[in-house]
Amino acid sequence: MTSSLPDGASLAFGVATAAYQIEGATTEDGRGPSIWDTFAARPGTVRDGQDGSVACDSYHRYDEDLDLIAGLGAGWYRFSIAWPRVLPDGTGRVEPRGLDYYDRLVDAALSRGVTPTATLYHWDLPQTLEDRGGWLDRGTAEAFADYTTLVHDRLGDRVRVWATHNEPWCAAYLGYAAGVHAPGRREGGAGHVAAHHLLLGHGLAAARLHEAGVDDVGIVLNLAPFWPEDPDDAQLVAVTDQVDAVRNRVWLGPLVDGRYDEGLLAVAPELADPGVVRDGDLALVRGSADWLGVNYYTPFRTAEPGAAEAHPEADAYPGVAPVSFVVREPRTDIGWEVDASGLEQLLVDTHRRTGLPLMVTENGAAYPDDVLNTDGSVDDQDRIAYLRDHVEATERARAAGADVRAYIVWTLLDNFEWAEGYTKTFGIVHVDPADQTRTPKASFHWIAQHISGSTATP
Ligand code: FCB
Repeated sequence: MTSSLPDGASLAFGVATAAYQIEGATTEDGRGPSIWDTFAARPGTVRDGQDGSVACDSYHRYDEDLDLIAGLGAGWYRFSIAWPRVLPDGTGRVEPRGLDYYDRLVDAALSRGVTPTATLYHWDLPQTLEDRGGWLDRGTAEAFADYTTLVHDRLGDRVRVWATHNEPWCAAYLGYAAGVHAPGRREGGAGHVAAHHLLLGHGLAAARLHEAGVDDVGIVLNLAPFWPEDPDDAQLVAVTDQVDAVRNRVWLGPLVDGRYDEGLLAVAPELADPGVVRDGDLALVRGSADWLGVNYYTPFRTAEPGAAEAHPEADAYPGVAPVSFVVREPRTDIGWEVDASGLEQLLVDTHRRTGLPLMVTENGAAYPDDVLNTDGSVDDQDRIAYLRDHVEATERARAAGADVRAYIVWTLLDNFEWAEGYTKTFGIVHVDPADQTRTPKASFHWIAQHISGSTATP
């Protein structure tokens, strides 16, 4: 085994994007529809009725975007591949122009000294597969493995670090239980079935990649620390344990131990159904990840039901007893509490639990700073403070023994922020929606300074 991960001698830096959030060109060069095209077209799903049909037009402007990444001095570019661009129907007919696009993108990164790392599934499932049941259908996991082989056959000579899924918790529970993300189904416990099939898809794809000689197969999880408001309230502590099961242990249990634990099964009987979880599924998943991606934005504080106003993710924990999530100040523009100590704790705990090398594969903040000053600058001091605090938290976790190899900023460009449309901006580069002009914000310059090792004074 020869790992191509950053070696961890010092923290590596990168930036992340996702296909549907930046590419646009959703009907170009034979791309098939994805569940996000369909979902966004349904009234009331996405803020202001927006969609990703144009987004940042990165399908045409990727050279300019790679110039920005190279200019930042970032060593790594985490991008995702749109499944319906390379297999318009999810299986079968291959669209060579889609593969050509990612081929050009990978070369564009490498020619600038930037190492590309690919995520295979960042939520844009081909609509044809959703029509056959989506992630509630075991066949989708098998189709995902075939798609993985197709993409690896084309890019694997140059892309050495792979992630299967991005945040399968969102794909499963926001998509099939809460219905606030595509495909917008509100089917409660079906979320658990989707989670299992996503894990199975990961396991099948990881086996294909390993057989093909890949040494660095990962999965990117939005694990979260849960903090009970009253740690002496036994009932609340018990419910918090249930929430932790559905958010965190549903992935870590199979990946590390090859099993769903009893506490999880108590709230997710679907995962005890032998028709869903078949013999061999969990054994396939166990040990399948060589590294873990951790996406972190905020901690979650649990409280008695009714203690806080309804939380947008409240329906995303099927089977769990009623609970509320308290969000303290300060918050970012998307309403997420800012507390970098949650990242430090999560990295230390996750490394202890898994023993795997970790990368912070996403971290960043939405602030309403998308206005250009008259001198053409964007002075996003709040984002600089957020990033600085979280980079420091990552360094503290490393000092405490967590094997964290990289810190990857979410995100390069102001982009299509899922159900929030274009209203929440996370970019370190401002994008003018009228003409697509890219303008690096002050946070971009701060990161560039930080990477180059100079004393950054925001
Ligand atoms: C994560 C997603 C990413 C982005 C950030 C803000 O949940 O993986 O695509 O939307 O949140």
